[in-house]
Amino acid sequence: MNEHWIKEAYQDALPEDFHGGVKWQSPSNIALVKYWGKQKGLQLPQNPSVSFTLKNCRTETAVFFEKSDHFGLHFRFEGKENADFQDKIKVFLENNMEYFPFLNQIDLHVNSRNTFPHSSGIASSASSMSALMMCLLDIERMAKGTDGINMRKASFFSRLASGSACRSIYPKMAIWGATEAYNGSSDEYAVPLEDEIAPVFKSYHDSILIVSDAKKSVSSRVGHALMDANPYASARYDTAKKNVSKLLKVLKSGDLDCFIRIVESEAMQLHALMMCSEPSFILMKPNTLRIINTLFEFRKETDIPVCFTLDAGPNVHILYPDQHAEMVERFIMDELERYCVDGHWIPDQVGEGPSKC
Ligand code: PMV
Repeated sequence: MNEHWIKEAYQDALPEDFHGGVKWQSPSNIALVKYWGKQKGLQLPQNPSVSFTLKNCRTETAVFFEKSDHFGLHFRFEGKENADFQDKIKVFLENNMEYFPFLNQIDLHVNSRNTFPHSSGIASSASSMSALMMCLLDIERMAKGTDGINMRKASFFSRLASGSACRSIYPKMAIWGATEAYNGSSDEYAVPLEDEIAPVFKSYHDSILIVSDAKKSVSSRVGHALMDANPYASARYDTAKKNVSKLLKVLKSGDLDCFIRIVESEAMQLHALMMCSEPSFILMKPNTLRIINTLFEFRKETDIPVCFTLDAGPNVHILYPDQHAEMVERFIMDELERYCVDGHWIPDQVGEGPSKC
């Protein structure tokens, strides 16, 4: 598979006057079945994962390029030079030059911004890396003079840059990680699930409640690595595989009770795994638990199929069908906003994936 994309890469000399600009936006995504734990030494998952592609939490990336005699990268984030991001991206691209040999003849000026505040505690690696990969593949497409971008390849490159970024490439929902439960699934890239899901999931809401806007206390790189010695790792990978099979059925049938059970259990497991890692971490805050408990009461009282999930941090994602949006958003404003930093929450919804701006 990798060799295939190396062969497909643009290998020729670029025309002397090759220059121009491209701009792409790409969204973040929220995992319903979580990816937590990598196969040894590779950016490959220990278990399959399934996610909603988001709509409002996006990165917009503009890249200006011109022919040069060596690879150059100048990176600006939200209008300012950012040496930290620049160095990380440069090292990543240099290490993966076999996939993008044309970069050796090009100077890139990258301008990237997020549509969500960067102090919101929301990791932007999925949106930013997928947006950058779309730009690079678009530049390569221009060099080749061909139409269209191979989305599977975009997903593959996004995965190399930041695992879960590979799921941001597709509209509505994606699955990443080889499983017998889904034909065509792969550890190397994500594939779309849009055609396999009941209408209710195509407009699902995800309101992100910002409990803390501090930088993550544990990076996902460290978190994945902790799974290598976690005593419950193999039970976790088995459970995640089973949850993916169950969730795929539920996504077809639209059984929301079962959806809620799987999604909440996945969030709890992710946090439980961190609590029993060595060293151990508590990623929730008291307000995370207050929100979850208040949500449980609301669900019991109203019978509205609203549930939560968590990323590897304290912020709470409240998930609900479009038909209940008004009631749930009123509940968030009345009962949950008080637990958020400066009352801050981001209303988001299932979206359409990357697009050219
Ligand atoms: O893609 P990474 O390495 O940032 O890991 C993402 C891990 C979780 O967000 C916790 C779960 C997931 O599947 O997105």
